[in-house]
Amino acid sequence: MSLDSHIWPDTAEVIGGRLHIGGCDTTALAETHGTPLYLLDEATLRGAMRAYTAALARHYPGPARVHYASKALLNTAVAQIVAEEGLGLDVVSGAELLVARRAGLPMGQVHMHGNAKGEAELRRAVEWGVGAIVVDSLDELDRLAALTHGRERPQGVLLRVAPNIDTHTHAHIATGGAASKFGLPLEALGAAAARALDASGLRLLGLHAHIGSQLTRAEEFRAAVGVLAREMTRLRDDLGVELEELSPGGGLGVPYTADMPPTDIDAYAAALGAATREACAAHGLRPPLLTVEPGRSIVARAGVALYRVLARKLGPDGAPLYLHVDGGMADNIRPALYGAQYTSLLASRADAPAGPPVDVAGRYCESGDVLLRQAPLPPAGPGDLIAVAVAGAYTLSMASTYNMAPRPALLLVGDGAARLIQRRETEDDLLARDLFL
Ligand SMILES: Cc1ncc(COP(=O)(O)O)c(C=O)c1O
Repeated sequence: MSLDSHIWPDTAEVIGGRLHIGGCDTTALAETHGTPLYLLDEATLRGAMRAYTAALARHYPGPARVHYASKALLNTAVAQIVAEEGLGLDVVSGAELLVARRAGLPMGQVHMHGNAKGEAELRRAVEWGVGAIVVDSLDELDRLAALTHGRERPQGVLLRVAPNIDTHTHAHIATGGAASKFGLPLEALGAAAARALDASGLRLLGLHAHIGSQLTRAEEFRAAVGVLAREMTRLRDDLGVELEELSPGGGLGVPYTADMPPTDIDAYAAALGAATREACAAHGLRPPLLTVEPGRSIVARAGVALYRVLARKLGPDGAPLYLHVDGGMADNIRPALYGAQYTSLLASRADAPAGPPVDVAGRYCESGDVLLRQAPLPPAGPGDLIAVAVAGAYTLSMASTYNMAPRPALLLVGDGAARLIQRRETEDDLLARDLFL
């Protein structure tokens, strides 16, 4: 049986009906480690990181950097892989920054984002020497100017703008419109840049925009670059400063179902490279450092989630309406939050013929907790193991402990070995924060 190569990890194969990833039998892993269980295929993860670096080198003549957007999935091992692959890291909290440091990432390669950064987070970012703080508002800029006043080594900053670009994506993950909660309105950019240039403890490096996630249209990325280059030109003309860094964010989409086209990192880099080259030539700008921040397109396809079927709900005709599994919206909120669709198979009988489509319901006490709608699985029942593809991004990183269910374990798989990189949460972990009256 062949698997869709744009959906499943590079190393996924079905051997004797059983799904293997990274040379490991997923059925055996589920027995050893329990379910729900998340697997991360090291080869797919590293391959996507390398594809970004190589594609930017091919398509952009100036300096370029790839920063993995850690919000998609972060733990110490993933941050170590980021460091080994020579990527930078974007973080949005003090704890994500702590993980970056713990993993040995050079702090100069870390950018700190966020529309509401706390005082302690900003202090930590400055004290630890992050490469750039991406400033989201005038209020934050003022706080940062005060915090860094008198410092010997100025803190690098990028100004994030809301570039007023509408994107074709779900409203929850569209961030480029003027009404978005993120970024400085374009009209405020001149004042923000002037303030940043005046602040003795800050060094204004460049401009940033992130227009949304799960985007597939090259023209939307090109438009973002166009706005940033235009604004950089305006700042040069008005304030006499030529900024050195341009970051059009992340956002490249991935397929979740076989009918969607594969992620084309090369085409994305070609579009960004051409747009930046052309805009710089048109405005007489030096090619800036081009920083991209992919999250989903680096980690999504590397991840596979495994769930055990615990029960069925049968309709009046005896046909199964639901398969009930032991995970759901607490480890993967995306179906409940955005109606996201996924691809699945039976991990231990992957090549059995499909039965009537069935919904796969999560274990959590919400009617909306349905992981898979009308999944074309073979007839299945208690004990069967369901594998869900493209589960690496915005799943575990958004996981909750709803219903006090412990969060799943994560294994890194490759070359026939599985390494536990995040252990399953325990009841003791869950109770550790609870205090008696
Ligand atoms: C500022 C910023 N950069 C990068 C990303 C990563 O986006 P994606 O995972 O779609 O590549 C996000 C995600 O929302 C973001 O907010």
